[in-house]
Amino acid sequence: MHIHQLRIQNFRNIREASLDLTPGVQLLIGRNAQGKTSLLEAVYLLATATSHRTHNNRELITQGETTAFIEAEFDRDGSRHRLSTGFDSKERRFRIDEKPLKRVSDLYGILKAVFFSPEDLEFLSGGPIARRRTMDLGLCQQNPPLVRVLLDYRKALKQRNTLLRQADASITTRNLVKAWNPELIRLGTQILSQRADYTLKLIEKASDYYASITGSRENLAGVYRSSMIHLAWRKGGEIPDEQDLKKYFEIALEETVEKDFLYRQTHAGPHRDDIVLEVCGKSAERYASQGQRRSIVLALKLAERDLLTSPNDPPILLVDDVTHEMDMRRCDRFLENICSSGQVFLTFTETESHRGLIKNATEWHVQDGMISRRSG
Ligand SMILES: Nc1ncnc2c1ncn2[C@@H]1O[C@H](COP(=O)(O)OP(=O)(O)OP(=O)(O)O)[C@@H](O)[C@H]1O
Ligand SMILES: [Mg+2]
Repeated sequence: MHIHQLRIQNFRNIREASLDLTPGVQLLIGRNAQGKTSLLEAVYLLATATSHRTHNNRELITQGETTAFIEAEFDRDGSRHRLSTGFDSKERRFRIDEKPLKRVSDLYGILKAVFFSPEDLEFLSGGPIARRRTMDLGLCQQNPPLVRVLLDYRKALKQRNTLLRQADASITTRNLVKAWNPELIRLGTQILSQRADYTLKLIEKASDYYASITGSRENLAGVYRSSMIHLAWRKGGEIPDEQDLKKYFEIALEETVEKDFLYRQTHAGPHRDDIVLEVCGKSAERYASQGQRRSIVLALKLAERDLLTSPNDPPILLVDDVTHEMDMRRCDRFLENICSSGQVFLTFTETESHRGLIKNATEWHVQDGMISRRSG
């Protein structure tokens, strides 16, 4: 999968850009605050309708303008497609091959991308919300129909929580709250079984990468922890089938209903799950050093790339500033790994010496929101 042509209008500080791209490595070189991250953000927004920096359209549109536009022509499975998004402060619309997408959830899987960013460290420090978000973004690109399930689950949960907040705990209210259980169970078990399966595969691959990054001196392991069945699954552990999960979920909802009324929110379900990582047997969230955190996150991202690779077709990699604090040897191995992976966008500031490690790249100069081909 690779983008041939990328067009951007009024996105962040990029007023107008049109780039003819090659299938391999694209180096985006420029001083601080020139628009490098913005370009990567534009590509990721096109692929997933999300930005790692904001939920607010207004922040994405160039100050003083009212609309923004991003379009990519790309090759997938031997045929060419055109994907675009146009948005104002309220609404985003997507088109694939000139046809409007009815729902944003239909976008997933069309253009697959993995974002490596310094903010990924939040995976370890940002709590379970950040971890679930990362898992779901990868999983939804791999398994697009799950987007709809997640959205419907969120809606059902919101309805149930609204009732709990109004609740007077009378029989009638209890029955109304309970009436949402079958919907939560139906959707929640699909999320749980697919997310747990994806997470265990992710951890397994990430452990291999972590071993290779650390020269096998350290090992990374992890579990998927489910809030609703007080269980955690490890590599090799069997995830119960959906019928069993439904039963567990039903019991968990029964068990926690008093607590739900007390705190006025739903306690059991995949919206409370977490992934727990351990380095050499100790909780990574609590004990990992800065260097270990960086290596864990890179290992997880490389694993995500592998899970999103359909046969011989890796996703687009957007690599922002991550080589910044790495030592030369670690960096060399990392760059070698990602640069053999299809189309990769890498940002560098002018002075970084690591850039010399990359061969055969197309170089772009980014200055004040303008992007031009560098020669020589
Ligand atoms: N909506 C917007 N309108 C205009 N400019 C914006 C908007 N949002 C951000 N900017 C500006 O765009 C510039 C480029 O930001 P960006 O994060 O892309 O820089 P960068 O090249 O990645 O820099 P660094 O090397 O520091 O990471 C910054 O000066 C930022 O303040
Ligand atoms: Mg940046």
